[in-house]
Amino acid sequence: MDDYKLVIHGENALKGDTYVSGGKNTSVAVIPAALLCDEPCVLENIPDIEDVHVLVEILRLLGADISFDPASKRMEIDPTTVTKCQVPYAYTQKMRASYYLIGALLGHCGEAEVGYPGGCSIGNRPFDLHIKGFRSLGANVEDRWPTITATGPLEGAGVFFDRITVGGTINVMMAAAKAEGNTILYNAAREPHVVDLANFINSMGGSVKGAGTDTIRIKGVKRLHHSTYAVIPDQIETGTLMIAAAATRGEVTIHGCIPTHMESLTAKLLEMGVPVTESDDAIRIGVLRGHRAVNIKTQEYPGFPTDLQQPMSAMLTMAKGRSVVIESIFENRFKHLREMMRMGAQVTLLDQTAIIDGVSKLYGSPVTATDLRAGAALVVAGLMAQGDTEIYEPGFITRGYERLEEKLRSLGADIRREKI
Ligand code: EPU
Repeated sequence: MDDYKLVIHGENALKGDTYVSGGKNTSVAVIPAALLCDEPCVLENIPDIEDVHVLVEILRLLGADISFDPASKRMEIDPTTVTKCQVPYAYTQKMRASYYLIGALLGHCGEAEVGYPGGCSIGNRPFDLHIKGFRSLGANVEDRWPTITATGPLEGAGVFFDRITVGGTINVMMAAAKAEGNTILYNAAREPHVVDLANFINSMGGSVKGAGTDTIRIKGVKRLHHSTYAVIPDQIETGTLMIAAAATRGEVTIHGCIPTHMESLTAKLLEMGVPVTESDDAIRIGVLRGHRAVNIKTQEYPGFPTDLQQPMSAMLTMAKGRSVVIESIFENRFKHLREMMRMGAQVTLLDQTAIIDGVSKLYGSPVTATDLRAGAALVVAGLMAQGDTEIYEPGFITRGYERLEEKLRSLGADIRREKI
């Protein structure tokens, strides 16, 4: 249990300029992928978040020489000193992306013994398609709770994903990067961080083509060389800040983002009546009163991201009219709405659908964050509500957002930590 709570005094319109940090979901893929390299690597724009610190701990445990300077956001990794290929469950259960160590270690030394992943409790999160992919490449995989053991050698092959999986696409891409011969990933995920990982592998001399489409072709190479690579800005943090600005009827410019990654959210905000303008690497949210309700169905990229469904549905509790939100990726991603009902939100939950009838006021109340994006959603709720909202278990938020409180405070939010 966290020993502090977040207290937000709501109803302040956010105003001013802010910036986006490096991507969480891209960093947690690119850092393990550095193990594929046969020389030291430098990663830039790495966010100072809990999940990154856990990965640093894990890579150190494996023997990598690794340093991370949160101020410059620069990470130096020397994978040539790695001596182990075992990562115990005590480490892997701290985060979801620890399962990327299977693909990365298979590529690094043809062997991996990795504990089951942890991560947010947002539904049943199987990784059968990762295992199927490794097996298609010839790996011998034993899946016995709490450890997955995989051994090579790997040989390129066609891998068809029965459903689109971001993690599966990334994991199998890593394993294939140094496999013998050619691999083709069919029905691959198209998320920006899948493309970022492919770009990183290519910057080290690898050969990954087609990332960003549903067919990715990987030609295995024997060696990968040094690279200095900057990860892309965080798509979900950008969206969370856009939503926080719109939810408070604020006026905020978000710098350092990639507006084309935000098209599904931008379209929905425009449909609600929120003015959104874009330039090369910035998005501006303008003020408008009386947001209109909209319907949302989460989908794989370029559809509306499930990771933004939570902050977005929090905002919709105060939109004018009825919104219908369908969560089609994870089974259990409406826990924040249950908490928000105590704040006065009018929501009917039917399995993976939320019917939200907009109210004109939310009232501050004690609420509990149950996962990372639920935490972000409750922050949005607190910013909109009258009075004080106390968010318990705010540690979930620091796993994935860099200095969110500080950024919101600089925009005028009244948000502080209090010891409990
Ligand atoms: N699935 C399977 N079998 C598999 C893999 C996935 O059935 O082997 C199912 C899942 O249960 C889910 C769907 O396929 O219903 C999509 O899952 P996906 O594999 O795409 O998700 P993930 O890799 O576990 C990543 C992000 C999530 C994000 C999803 C969807 C990381 C570390 N996690 O998860 O991020 O919600 O993609 O975009 O990149 C977050 O940042 O808060 C977060 C949860």
